[in-house]
Amino acid sequence: MYNVADERAELTADVQSTAESTAVAAQDAALNPRFYTTDFDEMNKLDFSSMREQWDAMVAEFKSDPNRNHFKRTPEFDEDFSKLPPKLRQEFVDFLISSVTAEFSGCILYAEIKKRCTNPDVRELFGYMSRDEGRHAGFINHTLNDFNVRVDLSFLTRAKKYTFFKPKFIYYATYLSEKIGYARYITIFRNFEQQPDKRWHPIFKWFDNWCNDEFRHGEAFAVLMRANPETLQGINKYWIRFFLLAVFCTMYVRDHLRASFFGAMGMSVDDYDRKVIKLTSLISKQVFPVSLDLESPRLWELFEKMFQLTLAIEATKRIPGIGSALRRMMMKATVAITFVQLYFLPVESNALPADVRMEPVW
Ligand SMILES: [Fe+2]
Ligand SMILES: [Fe+2]
Repeated sequence: MYNVADERAELTADVQSTAESTAVAAQDAALNPRFYTTDFDEMNKLDFSSMREQWDAMVAEFKSDPNRNHFKRTPEFDEDFSKLPPKLRQEFVDFLISSVTAEFSGCILYAEIKKRCTNPDVRELFGYMSRDEGRHAGFINHTLNDFNVRVDLSFLTRAKKYTFFKPKFIYYATYLSEKIGYARYITIFRNFEQQPDKRWHPIFKWFDNWCNDEFRHGEAFAVLMRANPETLQGINKYWIRFFLLAVFCTMYVRDHLRASFFGAMGMSVDDYDRKVIKLTSLISKQVFPVSLDLESPRLWELFEKMFQLTLAIEATKRIPGIGSALRRMMMKATVAITFVQLYFLPVESNALPADVRMEPVW
C-alpha cells in the first residue's frame, strides 16, 4: 500500500541542505511556484454520483498505476555531464529546480487534501495523484543531485508561504497547470524526437509517459468539475476567464525570461509558448465553458507587453533611489491596466462535450 509519508520521507532522506540551491527554490518571487492550502470541509461536500461510472473508471486507471515502472534510472544517467557549457548547465539546473518545486508543491497539496478530507472519493483520488507527483519530484531531484545541487524539499515545506485558495480556485488553477504540464512535456519530447542531436540529457526521454500522468491528473479535475457543475456556471465563468489569462500570461512571461534555454533545445520560445498555450486551450474545452481567442494578434501583443514591463521592472530594481522606485510603481500600475485590457478582449463560448474524458493524442 502506498503511503505518502513514506514517499515524502524518501524524498527528503537523500537530499542534504545546500543553502544556495534551496535559497533559489525558496524565493517567493511572484512568478515562482507557490504552495497552496484550501477549505477541506467544502471539498468534503463534492458529489460524484452524477458521473459515477466515469469517476470509477478513472480511479481504477489511477489504481492500476500505469507508470509504476517508468521512473527508473538507466545507465545513461550515469554519464559525465560536466562538459555541458556552463551557461546551459546553469539554465538546465534552474529549469530542474523550478520543475521540482512545482512537482513537489503538487505532491504536498494533494497529500494534504488526502489527509484532511473525509470524503472517501476525494481521499482516494488525491492519494494517487500525490503518489505520482512525489515520484516526479524524486526523479528530478535525483538528476539535480547528479549536478551536485541539493534542494532540501522538507525545508521548502516549512519556509514557503502557503497561499489560501477557495476549492474552486484550486480546481481551475490546478486543472490548468496539469494540462499545461502535459502540453509542455509532450512538446519538449516531440521536439527532441525531431532533433535528437540537441538532447543533452536523458531525462527528456522520460517526458512521454511522464506527461500522461499530468494528462490524467488534469482529467481528474475535469471530471470533478463536470460532476459538480456549479463550479462551471454563473459568475464562475468570469473566474475561469481570469484563470485562463493569468496562467497563460504567467507562462509567457516566465518562459520569455529564459528564452536562451529554449534556444538551446532548438526551439524558439515564441513558437513553443504558442504551441503549448493553444494545445492547453483546446484541451480545456472539455470542461471550461469559455476560451480565450488565441487567434487575436492583440492578445499576443499584450502578453509581449507584460514581458517587456517585467524586464523593465527588474531593471529598475538594480537602480537605487526614489526616481527608480517611482518608475517601478508606474510600471506596476501599467501591468494592472494591461491585465484589465487582456481581460476584456472578446472570448469564445464552448458547448461542453457530452463525454468529458479525452485521450492524449498529440
Ligand atoms: Fe507531475
Ligand atoms: Fe500532475
